[in-house]
Amino acid sequence: MKNQLIIFDTTLRDGEQSPGASLSVSEKVEIARQLEKLNVDVIEAGFPVSSPEQFEAVQRISNEVGVTVAALARAKEIDIKSAYDAIKNGEKKRIHTFSSTSDYHILGKFSDDRYGKTLTEKRKTIIKMSYDMVKYAKSLVDDVEFSAEDAGRTDLNYLVEVIEAAIEAGATTINIPDTTGYTLPKEFGQKIAYLKSKVRNIEKAIISVHCHNDLGLAVANSIAGIENGARQVECTINGIGERAGNASLEEIVMALKVRKDIFEIESKIETKEIMNTSKLVSGYTGIIVQPNKAIVGENAFAHESGIHQDGMLKSRETYEIMTPETVGAQSTKIVLGRHSGRHGLKARLDELGYSVASEELNNIYKSFTKLADKKKEVYDDDLRILMGDSKNRNEAIYDLKYMHVFGGSSTIPTATVRIKADGKIVEDSATGDGPVDALFNAIDRALEKKPTVESYRVRSVTAGRAALGEVAVRIRKDGRSYTGIGVSTDIIEASAKAYIQAINKKERNERSKNKIQNEEELKGEI
Ligand code: KIV
Ligand code: ZN
Repeated sequence: MKNQLIIFDTTLRDGEQSPGASLSVSEKVEIARQLEKLNVDVIEAGFPVSSPEQFEAVQRISNEVGVTVAALARAKEIDIKSAYDAIKNGEKKRIHTFSSTSDYHILGKFSDDRYGKTLTEKRKTIIKMSYDMVKYAKSLVDDVEFSAEDAGRTDLNYLVEVIEAAIEAGATTINIPDTTGYTLPKEFGQKIAYLKSKVRNIEKAIISVHCHNDLGLAVANSIAGIENGARQVECTINGIGERAGNASLEEIVMALKVRKDIFEIESKIETKEIMNTSKLVSGYTGIIVQPNKAIVGENAFAHESGIHQDGMLKSRETYEIMTPETVGAQSTKIVLGRHSGRHGLKARLDELGYSVASEELNNIYKSFTKLADKKKEVYDDDLRILMGDSKNRNEAIYDLKYMHVFGGSSTIPTATVRIKADGKIVEDSATGDGPVDALFNAIDRALEKKPTVESYRVRSVTAGRAALGEVAVRIRKDGRSYTGIGVSTDIIEASAKAYIQAINKKERNERSKNKIQNEEELKGEI
């Protein structure tokens, strides 16, 4: 029997901190259900104190899934109380609290004299805060994780002291984050080995690693951590996360599986669910997976050169270290056509990881038959897109009811839109430099908003002239980006849907933020 590696998935927390990736509550619940199918050990569902929406998402996930749900909290009573309130009715619950431990963070975030006048005094304050807050969390739940933020750049002897205090207070998982993605694999591995040998009470806790990808080393560092004694790894689907992202779950899991000859440790991940999970996360966050991304990229199993193709035909192992089937990446299937019934549609959606209630199925079936009329053959990726579209419409504050765009080589592009906004119908028209510009201007006028459009991208979802066109629009307001995805066989309509979805995400976030009591306190914390 090999040792088991605990897979702690933070897609819904650190992953959601990716620029533009804000997810709605029901999207998060859907992703959590898929993570459960993937068989992760812990789902970090969010940071409850940061907004009522985050609180609700953590609460719903904790009540609805059977795996351990972790809620993030700074080492502050208000955060820990909120984390506990969100998960208290769940079956398996963990509070994950963290303190800053590097001098960069201590001097930057704790510059106020109330934390101590000198660095030595401030360091002592951090140890006391960490001890007290782990103890408080432990009075609420059994399973407490402590993270030493920016451990990658923290003085090692000080790190030992902080960790000893956290374990003494009751932490059973000690997480070592390389918050800024600064360390190199050998160095990070040595840090873990050092902590394992020097922290006097380390046998009472599991060592965890949490690596960021600023130098493209997050997976390599995580693996170095595992080789040196870490037994939990924190990672995200598709490697999404702050800045350059976090360590990618699928890469770590497959490295352990493919190189089982080397590792004395294994995960219990259901690897066949990797591709479904990757597509679900990409669809809902709007963050596309680069084609050459290991394991889940479109080209990960494509063999282009003649020599490679020939080698593959003779024996797959010539150029393949794992089969696409192992990660659920078999070639896209034609699943359904215009004569398929509700039953067939529901069965396929279940297989793709979507749980659809019967009222919702009727609406999806209507969209499906419309699409099947236009496209004849409906592929898995088309279904994924229909699902995302239906979810967005259900949760829309603004919903496009009608649009008309007029363009051509010798006319001024003009657009008219009618939108249901907070239950009322609003409409307006505008001109622009092209049809999409005219459309966005008309939407701005109707909604009396003018966000900055940061990026605009169009791609075809599947092959063929009648393929669904997918448009992704990223907008920016008050230092935060939001991505909207729209799909239609008409890319102008898809553009309107994408723009309105991005505005919906912004609006939801702003309305939820207005309700936070301690917004000032949260600024710049993680
Ligand atoms: O990167 C980091 O340090 C974090 C902590 C909150 C664990 O995400
Ligand atoms: Zn992080």
